[in-house]
Amino acid sequence: MCGIIGYTGPRVATEVILDALKKLEYRGYDSAGVAISGSSIQIHKDKGEISVMESTLPHFLGGVGIGHTRWATCGKPSKPNAHPFADCTGSIALVHNGIIENYAEIKRKLIEDGHIFTSETDTEVLVHLIEKHNHGDLRQALVAALSEVRGTYAIVLLQKDSDRILATRKENPLVVGLGVGENFVASDVTALLNYTNKVLYVMDDEIVELDPRKVTIYDPSGIPVERKPSLINWSADEAQKGGFEHFMLKEIFEQPEAIRNTLRSNLEAVESGNLLSKTDFPSIKIVACGTSYHAALVGKYVLEKVAKVPTTVELASEYRYGSGAKEHPLVVLISQSGETADTLAAAREARRRGCQTLAITNVVGSTLTREVDEVFYTRAGPEIGVAATKTFITQLIALYLIAMRVGDGRRSLSRDDLRAFRSELLRLPQVVRSVLDSSPQVEEATDMLVEARDIFFLGRNINFPIMLEGALKLKEISYIHAEGYAAGELKHGPLALLDSKTPTVAACPRDHTYDKMLSNVAEVQARDSPVLAIGFQGDRDLEQVASKVILVPEVPPLFSPFPITVALQLLSYYVAKRKGCSIDKPKNLAKSVTVE
Ligand code: AGP
Repeated sequence: MCGIIGYTGPRVATEVILDALKKLEYRGYDSAGVAISGSSIQIHKDKGEISVMESTLPHFLGGVGIGHTRWATCGKPSKPNAHPFADCTGSIALVHNGIIENYAEIKRKLIEDGHIFTSETDTEVLVHLIEKHNHGDLRQALVAALSEVRGTYAIVLLQKDSDRILATRKENPLVVGLGVGENFVASDVTALLNYTNKVLYVMDDEIVELDPRKVTIYDPSGIPVERKPSLINWSADEAQKGGFEHFMLKEIFEQPEAIRNTLRSNLEAVESGNLLSKTDFPSIKIVACGTSYHAALVGKYVLEKVAKVPTTVELASEYRYGSGAKEHPLVVLISQSGETADTLAAAREARRRGCQTLAITNVVGSTLTREVDEVFYTRAGPEIGVAATKTFITQLIALYLIAMRVGDGRRSLSRDDLRAFRSELLRLPQVVRSVLDSSPQVEEATDMLVEARDIFFLGRNINFPIMLEGALKLKEISYIHAEGYAAGELKHGPLALLDSKTPTVAACPRDHTYDKMLSNVAEVQARDSPVLAIGFQGDRDLEQVASKVILVPEVPPLFSPFPITVALQLLSYYVAKRKGCSIDKPKNLAKSVTVE
């Protein structure tokens, strides 16, 4: 996610802004910029680290300014796409976090009206739209502009010849910092802690006006509201993690939002057929590494079931050794970072073989996006923990949406099927939230696992790859040896390893695999291996056969990977925490693997 800061007061604004932006660096970014108000608005921005932008920053002397670190979502990382953006006359400038869904349509109309754009971003339409509505009252212009906008945002806006800053939000964080004779607004309290610990939290659709002397919050109908300041006693480190102990836990808890954002910014392209304009390929091959490979395996089940298209999955590091089938599948490459060397090599190989290629990635402008025909961006926001969590769940969303698109394109889904599928997808943020709410129950279940040297993870059908992922998550952050197995494979070897010191985690949603999973659970318990079963709420039978049960909300079988994944992520996290492991930076691992 991008970082935002606004300052109005007696200090040199650029100094405050640079300091605050550096506090926001941990969130990840690809460019940075500042705008300072005076008799004109001066803007300076650049691609790359803040220090790059700072090294050429002129001596802007004003005491009113805004700053931004950008994590590209619309338009590649580049100097023209960096924030802030000014209107045509240079009278107002703004910074923005979030996504404007209908920006293309608004931009088209504004261009017809004579507005000139300098970037590929959705953000730039906001400043021009506000300019269009600005007849002297900037707050009113902001309200009018936002009434035309669909999407999510935190916006901070300044104007020339004024010490006033305006800010607003919808589903993006925004906090005001209260000083003496100065005031601040930021996307994150981390940016404010050097100056104040007295803050006001801004709610959706409220508008805030700040000058050095006062802060006024207006409710959506324009009426000023009273709000009691909160006192922050977090350290800078705690604040960066939003009060969570580790980035991984924060990122696990950000999943409802990550899912919502990924759906929001891709659903339209899926439903209008703008994604994958041709769907008549003979088959699909999905290629990836690690966690992304597990997402690919889930994708195979979904694509075959929903879109009725034969799908194979290959590890990116192995893809090059295949000779390439005679037919030309659509090759889908999944990589959260978009920089994994093996996946990049596979993308090049797929194109060499003459295949149509589609990348699923979380990083706009990453190398992978330049190696493929088409890109599907997940909108998880930057992931700092080495263990992939929110990027995995949004990769699943991407694959479900692609299945929806291919199923529609190939007429394997009826209108009713599509509607039902869509509404299950839209329900997922709530489903995930409810698993997160039960995290104390999951934490308690770690008693069974924390002392183990080896743990088995069993699942069937679509939850087999989910258990592979559960095992990977546990081993990478807790250093406990864990193996994922298709439950039916148990008696073909691994059963020999089970004993009272080797617990098993089993995915047991009430679906067509349920009876067989229950038999597997009994089989395991008969070898004295204690079983921790994950099932659906209301399932009383599970308690009879398993040693311990974690219950998650019931969803249709095809969607069960979502709640089960979240329970497994929490489980790994709490085991690793109890073992005192370095959760965000496990030994020997890197966030992106750029060597083959
Ligand atoms: C996941 O927790 C791991 N960090 C790792 O397996 C990762 O998924 C793999 O290296 C692939 O990365 P990518 O998605 O960036 O290509």
